[in-house]
Amino acid sequence: MQQKPIVIFDSGVGGLSIYQKVREKLPSLSVIYCSDSEGFPYGPKSENDVVDRTLHCLLRLVNNFQPSLAIIACNTASTIALPRARQLLEIPVVGVVPAIKPASQSSKKRCIGLLATPGTVEREYTSQLIHEFAGDCEVIRVGSSELVHLAEQHLRGEKINPDDLKKIIEPLFNGTNWPDCIVLGCTHFPLVQELLDSVVPAPVTWIDSGEAIARRVASLLEVHYSHHEGPVEHCFLYTGSDKSVTSLLPALEAMNFSEITCLDCLIGITPSG
Ligand code: DGL
Repeated sequence: MQQKPIVIFDSGVGGLSIYQKVREKLPSLSVIYCSDSEGFPYGPKSENDVVDRTLHCLLRLVNNFQPSLAIIACNTASTIALPRARQLLEIPVVGVVPAIKPASQSSKKRCIGLLATPGTVEREYTSQLIHEFAGDCEVIRVGSSELVHLAEQHLRGEKINPDDLKKIIEPLFNGTNWPDCIVLGCTHFPLVQELLDSVVPAPVTWIDSGEAIARRVASLLEVHYSHHEGPVEHCFLYTGSDKSVTSLLPALEAMNFSEITCLDCLIGITPSG
């Protein structure tokens, strides 16, 4: 019997960092990825706008595709919309939130950096996480929308100026205590982790939520790591009429998406077409 697909949702291409981890660990699952490109970016948006867009997109996805589970692969949305999404949908909803707990477990200097969107660093939810899991750590929060845009450009094959990255991470290293762990609290940021690593002034451990999310999905759906039977199909959806999707085709093809379709118009184009 064919498994139902799972849905992975983000404001843009950031959730692809979660998709990659899920695919690596759970290759038997078929994925419907949705980028809310019409609503992108979420980072500077009001909390109400983020909640409305997230719920609207998730409802359409669930009604259209009857997935077995949905991942909100966006910290900016999960930290505010998760309870409402769980109330509204009758399937398990997994949220991606900043990995403060593992960072606290691995920081020897008791100093952690949190790199996320301006929305996520200011959220009450994030303060709670820090209070609960890293109460004895200094946590330096840096919110950047620019890094979100740079990650989008990187995936489209554009060259990123290392000086732009240096400026973004600079506030993490301004004080006397430098972090030894940096939480990538936005799903876009693991896409540029190697570039970030090449500009940090001291070695750091980068921590994201991908692995934990794959584990959570495996346990909720009771599927096993690396258990793979037969071919699976993955579909990439975007909202609005995002012309820039063509520049993403090489990356999407490399990530094994067999269909790339506009959610609103449901007109499909293929990576090779
Ligand atoms: N990828 C999203 C996150 O994890 C945010 C990007 C945006 O600002 O839209 O927070």
